[in-house]
Amino acid sequence: MKHDSIAVLDFGSQYSHLIVRRIRELGVHAELLSPHMKASELKEYKGIIFSGGPQNLSDSDALIADIAIYALPVPLLGICYGLQLMAHQLGGSVGAGKEREYGPTDVTITETTGLFAGLNATERVWMSHGDYVATVPEGFTVTAFSPTCPTAGMMNEKTKRYGIQFHPEVVHTKNGMRVLENFIAITGANKTWSLNEGWIEEQVSRIRTQVGDSRVLCALSGGVDSSVAAFLVHRAVGSQLTCVYVDTGLMRKNETQEVRDAFAALPDLDFRVIEAESVFLEKLAGVTEPEEKRKIIGETFIRIFEKEAKTIGDAEFLVQGTLYTDVITSGVSVGGVAAKIKSHHNVGGLPKDLSFSLIEPLRDLYKDEVRMLGRALGVPLTIVERQPFPGPGLAVRIIGDITPDRLHILREADAIFREEIKNANLGSAIQQYFTVLPVVRSVGVQGDARTYGYPIILRAVTTTDFMTADWARIPYEVLEKISTRITNEVKDVTRVVYDITPKPPGTVEWE
Ligand code: XMP
Repeated sequence: MKHDSIAVLDFGSQYSHLIVRRIRELGVHAELLSPHMKASELKEYKGIIFSGGPQNLSDSDALIADIAIYALPVPLLGICYGLQLMAHQLGGSVGAGKEREYGPTDVTITETTGLFAGLNATERVWMSHGDYVATVPEGFTVTAFSPTCPTAGMMNEKTKRYGIQFHPEVVHTKNGMRVLENFIAITGANKTWSLNEGWIEEQVSRIRTQVGDSRVLCALSGGVDSSVAAFLVHRAVGSQLTCVYVDTGLMRKNETQEVRDAFAALPDLDFRVIEAESVFLEKLAGVTEPEEKRKIIGETFIRIFEKEAKTIGDAEFLVQGTLYTDVITSGVSVGGVAAKIKSHHNVGGLPKDLSFSLIEPLRDLYKDEVRMLGRALGVPLTIVERQPFPGPGLAVRIIGDITPDRLHILREADAIFREEIKNANLGSAIQQYFTVLPVVRSVGVQGDARTYGYPIILRAVTTTDFMTADWARIPYEVLEKISTRITNEVKDVTRVVYDITPKPPGTVEWE
């Protein structure tokens, strides 16, 4: 089935991906595209959105759109920089604001039809701009304004050109989804985008055609992406698929068992667990430098995977859980570089000389869509709801050299932390939470005796994209319980500390 689609031209806003996600949430397929797209390449789209961007139109290198786009019989919506660009290119004028308008702002809506149908006379919206549209182009009317912004909205209803200074895609714009929904209605796009059986069947038949009778190999990390990709490919080719899961010994408590249980639901799958803890620990013994750890783990993984691949014989295809965000890096379009395609490897980097053709069935999907798909495919929730976990696993959460004892301590402390976050119902509010064990010892006192043990660091962050993050405000009572349990239940831990560093300047992980 060919879906109606909306093109989002990326002028470099940090919210560009969010626009695409919101349109998809509303049931219409959307794609993030280079701002250099030519009108001739956009004819098939039902609507076109110009995103915001960090530039000013007065900059000598300011990005502009192909002027021929305005002649297409396709509805157009400009957001923030996109609005200013539209005004500028169609003969209006853009002024430099004396003050920036940033954050929540009340705008007066003067036209409650079309794009603003159903909105109130005053709307709380999210602004982030300095420049503003001083005069709208001929044929346009102002549809909204704020105390400092004379053109918070403009439209030419006849040609279906719309512009808004605020960001409808962020949650702080109260009726932002309504605005996007109105735009979809204006485009007439059919709402066919959902990861239902129809989508799954479409992919399944595509994979079947691609694979034929060949064998397919998948390196499972146990994370959401590779697991959902494996379930989908399995639906297409059944027993032609072999999944290889390498137990590095650097996984969290019960993780390997959870992966086994999840894949036990697919009895005809050739599912292989390679127990390689001793190999990894031997190679990592005495290594303290984080990049050295990553390199060793990556290489060891490759060697094991290669060896296993040979025993499978003539596998022609390799499944990878590449996501849309891996394929399209937001903002790379700024400065004239077209959207960059990078090849993505889930597990430490697979060897380049393995001559496989790739199957990447999630290439068009966002993480939340992959989770939705996982649920539809029956992937167990233990996997679908899993928080991100770094490829090198617990190796980068022991700050110092890795020993089986330290791994045991870290695993037990981490399991307690996760359990208590779950008990407190905080799991969905905190995007990543884990423990870290620095190889230092401190003095404690337990049962009247002096002890000498490790500290455990709790790390918990809230974030939307992991590029920036804040430390989670876990209630004191929950922290207290976690601390008490860890020092009581995990031998050799004398102290529990909470990391209150945002990113930047810290990173999420400690190494
Ligand atoms: P940082 O520590 O860079 O982490 O703020 C951002 C996100 O990336 C994850 N991370 C990794 N994932 N291999 C991975 O697959 C790695 O080596 C790695 N290092 C960090 C981290 O858990 C967080 O989600």
